[in-house]
Amino acid sequence: MKAKKIIGDLSEGEVKKIAEKIQRGTVEEIGTGGEGRVYAVGDYAVKIMGDEPGNRPYRHYDRGSLQNIPLVHEYMVGSCLEMIGVNTPKMYAVGKTNKGVQFLVMSPLELRDENMELNKLEEEIAVKTFKEQIELAKTHGFTPEDVKLENRTNYGWNEKTGNGVFYDFSAWGLN
Ligand SMILES: Nc1ncnc2c1ncn2[C@@H]1O[C@H](COP(=O)(O)OP(=O)(O)OP(=O)(O)O)[C@@H](O)[C@H]1O
Ligand SMILES: [Mg+2]
Repeated sequence: MKAKKIIGDLSEGEVKKIAEKIQRGTVEEIGTGGEGRVYAVGDYAVKIMGDEPGNRPYRHYDRGSLQNIPLVHEYMVGSCLEMIGVNTPKMYAVGKTNKGVQFLVMSPLELRDENMELNKLEEEIAVKTFKEQIELAKTHGFTPEDVKLENRTNYGWNEKTGNGVFYDFSAWGLN
């Protein structure tokens, strides 16, 4: 199997370079959650569903071509949310390695550590943004899931923008 780009605005060559780094394991882990792992790869943040970079993702292992769906789904939800004005990491591409491991290429967020509190003003901004943008998403037919203000579940404080930011759209839907 050859590494290739599945969808997105990055060039085929750029996506293949990222695929090679994943396959070699020369990537640094920056976040884990339920079933995904996020790595720093060059200037990008790259999400893989599975245990280790380069391994077959376990979640979609037996689902044949369906294993292609989830990260493309996140790419599409994230891109569309950005277009309507929701704060998200920029979605650049989805690709797969020569072993068939799918990856989502995003812009890296600089997330405040979840154990580090927000100050009063930051908290106000984060709450306001959350409420407004969840409403905005719903107005446009999205069904937000697995996202909460409490414990900053898939919603964090982005130091780069000084605002709240949504990420992890695997559970989101569209009416
Ligand atoms: N673009 C990004 N830049 C930097 N860090 C990120 C980015 N996206 C996610 N992260 C970090 O990586 C962690 C895991 O990512 P994510 O929440 O998407 O995976 P997950 O919860 O395992 O996914 P899933 O719900 O699809 O199983 C996040 O909690 C966050 O800390
Ligand atoms: Mg998550």
